[in-house]
Formats: sequence, structure tokens, C-alpha cells
Amino acid sequence: MSSEAQYSLADFYFTDTEDPLIPPPEFGDWYKAGRWAFDLFEPEMQGAVEPVMKIIRGGKSRTVVNLSSYNYLGLAAHPEVIEAGKRALAKYGTGACGSPMLSGMTDLHRELEHELVAFTGHEDVMLFNSGFGGGLGTLTGVLRKGDLAILDDKCHLCLIDGVKLAKAKLQFFSHNDPAALDEVLTKTASRPRRLVVIEGVYSMDGDHAKLPELLEVCGRHGVGVMIDEAHSILAFGEHGRGVVEHYGLPPSAVGLQYATFSKSFAHAGSFVAGNKDLIRYLRHYVNGYAFSCALPPAVVGGLLKALELGTRDNSLREKLWANVEHFRAGAESLGLDLGDSNSQVFPIIIGGDRQMLYEQCIAMNDAGLFLAPVDFPSVAEDSLRYRVAVTAAHEFVDLDRALQILEDTVVKAMAEAGTLDQARAKAAASKARREGKLNGHEQLNGSSEWQTMAKFLARQATAIANSSNKRARITQLSSMAYDMFVERARDPAGSYDKLVRAYEELNWREGVDALKTVRDELRRGRA
Ligand SMILES: Cc1ncc(COP(=O)(O)O)c(C=O)c1O
Repeated sequence: MSSEAQYSLADFYFTDTEDPLIPPPEFGDWYKAGRWAFDLFEPEMQGAVEPVMKIIRGGKSRTVVNLSSYNYLGLAAHPEVIEAGKRALAKYGTGACGSPMLSGMTDLHRELEHELVAFTGHEDVMLFNSGFGGGLGTLTGVLRKGDLAILDDKCHLCLIDGVKLAKAKLQFFSHNDPAALDEVLTKTASRPRRLVVIEGVYSMDGDHAKLPELLEVCGRHGVGVMIDEAHSILAFGEHGRGVVEHYGLPPSAVGLQYATFSKSFAHAGSFVAGNKDLIRYLRHYVNGYAFSCALPPAVVGGLLKALELGTRDNSLREKLWANVEHFRAGAESLGLDLGDSNSQVFPIIIGGDRQMLYEQCIAMNDAGLFLAPVDFPSVAEDSLRYRVAVTAAHEFVDLDRALQILEDTVVKAMAEAGTLDQARAKAAASKARREGKLNGHEQLNGSSEWQTMAKFLARQATAIANSSNKRARITQLSSMAYDMFVERARDPAGSYDKLVRAYEELNWREGVDALKTVRDELRRGRA
């Protein structure tokens, strides 16, 4: 691994500079050294999102099979959707020019709300001009200081940031684990106002919520649930109503059903559905709704058509699921580790080799496959991955081409590096787990995450020791350390011991000393 590849974006969150407008100079050096890899970010799409399309990366245009866009039903370039958007543009002009509360609401926006009420089965729906802003805003609307929000530990950042902005207390439970949720709810039983937040399909892992079991736990504790169906709306359920419908549950099984318009709907923005009283209240208490311009009418026109196409029959979903099965079978036969995915989103987990992550991503791109790398801190440092989004617009021939490129690039590289057998074993364990033959959590290597955290903290200890602005750096680390692992640990008091054990497992004596330095500095910083 090259020396810059041992660092990730998480390392440069911290800075020694005296002025917030001056970014850390070492970030600039790292960026320059890794320029070849950074070229993978912000590629330019040369037209509407299509399954095969042209993109510009590193100044060069290429035709690629696109497995990166969340266009799950393939509606982004659908002629009827485009026509509907054009009609709305011609009638309503370019912008809503006001917040929905004052002057941004049109009859078209209202029509979309009504259609979404009929679609979701909830009493009322409100629209947001952003997906991220809608998730974040909804939580700031319902939570207050002193409340407790209990989130699945793989929840999207917009939900985590929403809780933080609301100044509510944030606690996590282990991903998709009803027993862990039960434990948190039991331990926090004395708190008066609690809310559980989960997702329909988790975007980094592609697994869907074990909704009936999780809801049973919440019901037993009398705690309400908000579900983020960003990746599951229109894709899951007989009529596309999401994971709630997939499990045959009534809409009222969840207190709030939120979803974005940026994925299966192929637009931008989001909505939240719930009972009338709650949505009426939220219209006044979500600042990102009351104090932000409404969705552009052309988008609303297109959304209405996307909703109609996604619900008038099941043909798009049937094509999507046939494609999902085709891709899964092909990727599994290559020995790729697809984690616990059981949706149209697949991680291809390659382990901790960051250099390989980027090198193979470029090789795939050059060969005609567009896949994005997913790096720490978005995912754990030992499970770096590519993420695949299969859509209804792909044909088997596109997916076969993508599988061939995967075989020629990343599979070959993993075989050469000796990591393919490990991936194969993990894939077999995941498959057995999916088929109910293994209990998932017993099979996880519990200490590997702590080993990654241990290495990360050791790097920070060195940086603190060499820092010219120790005080700022320690304060930053203390807040990030809290966010990253104290909050996430089911047993925060045991975190230090787990880290020390991880160093011992790594047989890394200096690591223990480095960790002690961090702990002492953090204590001094807080004092
Ligand atoms: C689960 C989840 N919620 C919310 C969002 C935010 O949605 P948007 O991209 O539409 O802002 C995303 C984005 O990827 C997501 O994955």
C-alpha cells in the first residue's frame, strides 16, 4: 500500500490551522499525492442517467455500463416523465419563488401531496425540496432537547445530523438487531420521550430492515418509529409502497414514513407521511420547510408522472427484480462478497486495501464499467467496497458486460493479492445467514472493527504529538471520538478495554502507548 493510501478523509477532519478558512495543509499534500484516485470523484455525466452512457473522468470521455445511479425503476430518461416535466415548466415557469407556507405552494404541489396520500395510505403528506433536508428536517420537527432518538447504527447521516440539530440525545443499536434494540429500550425505559429511527433498505449494505421483529420490540416498549424508505420506496412492496408493504403491514405500523424523490422517483426532494395532526404540526416546525423555497413545479410535474408509472402496474418492479437476481447469481459465481444484501443495492466488499479500491475502480472505468468506490469513514476501514445499483432499465447484456469487467479487474486483482478466498468464505457465510442457516452476529469478527479504530486512533496520537495547535486538535478529536465510537458502542465504558485488546491482538505494543497518549490528552483537553 502506498504511504498516502493508509490515510482516509477521516484523518483530515482534524486541523492545526488557527483560521477556519485555512484548510489543513497536509490535506492539500495528501490530495496532490492521491490525485490519480481523486479523479474518480465527481465524474461528469454527459447526458441523462441511462444504463449505458458517456461519462467524463480525468478529462476523457468513455462509454460505460452505469451501475452507480439510483435510478432503480429507470425513470430518469423516461419520455413520459420528461414530457410531464416540460408541461409543468411551460405552465408554472422555472421556480416556485417562495416557501410553501407563503407563496411556493401550487395546485400541482397539492396534487402531488394528495396522490402520495393515496399511495402511502397515510392521512397526510408534506413535500421537501431536498432529500437530506427532509430527513434532517423531520427529526428537528419532532425531537426536542431531552428527547432520546434511538437509531440503527447504519442510519444515513441526514438522520444522525437531524437528531444532533434538534439537540436530542442520540443512541445507536446494532444494525438490524431486534435484541439489541430491545436492550437499549429496556435500559432507557425511564426516559419519557423516545423515538426509534430505522431505514427500509440500508444504502451501504443493501440489506432491508427486519421490520416485523423491530416493530414488535418497539410496540412492546410503546415507542414510535420513523422509517426512511429512500431506497425502498417504489422498489419494494406489491404496489411499491416500500418495506412496510413488503411485509404486509398497514401504513400505520410506523408513525412517520419518509422517502426521497432522488432514487426510484429519479428527481430530487423528499416527502414525509404520517397522521394529519403530526404533519400539520411539522409544516410549522420544520425550518427547512417553512423557511425554504418549495420544489420547482417542473420537478413536481415529473414526480406526478413518475408516481403514476411506478404504480400503474408491476412491470418495472418485475424487471428490476429479475435484473437483481441475474446480477446476484453472476457476482456470487465470481466469488464476490456481497455482504448481506437482499435488495437492488449490492456492496462488493474487498476488505481494507485502499490502494486496490481506487486502482481497480480506475481499471473498471477504463474497461467500461462505472462503479463508485466507498471509503472510510462512510464504511468501516476493513470493509471498503464498491456499490452497485441495479435498475429496471438495465438489460441482461449490460449486467453480463459489467460482470465480465469485474472478473477481469477486481476479481483478478483479489486473486493475485490472495484475498479472493477470504471474500468467497465471507460470501458463503452471508448466503447461509440469508437463508437462515447461521445466526449473523455470532459469525461477525467482533474485534476487527476495534482493530481498525485502534489503528485510526494511533495515527491521531502521532498527529497530536506533532501538532502545533494541540488544544484545537484535541477538542476536535474528542468530539469525533465521541461521535464515532462512544455513541456507537453498546457498552461505552468498555470501549477502552476493547481497544487495548485490539492492540494486543495486533501484537502492537506501541499502539497501547499511543492509545494511552490519546486517552490522557483527551482527559487533559476536557479538564
Ligand atoms: C437512506 C437515505 N436517506 C436520505 C438520503 C438523502 O437523499 P437525497 O440524496 O435525495 O438528498 C439518502 C441519500 O442517499 C439515503 O441513502
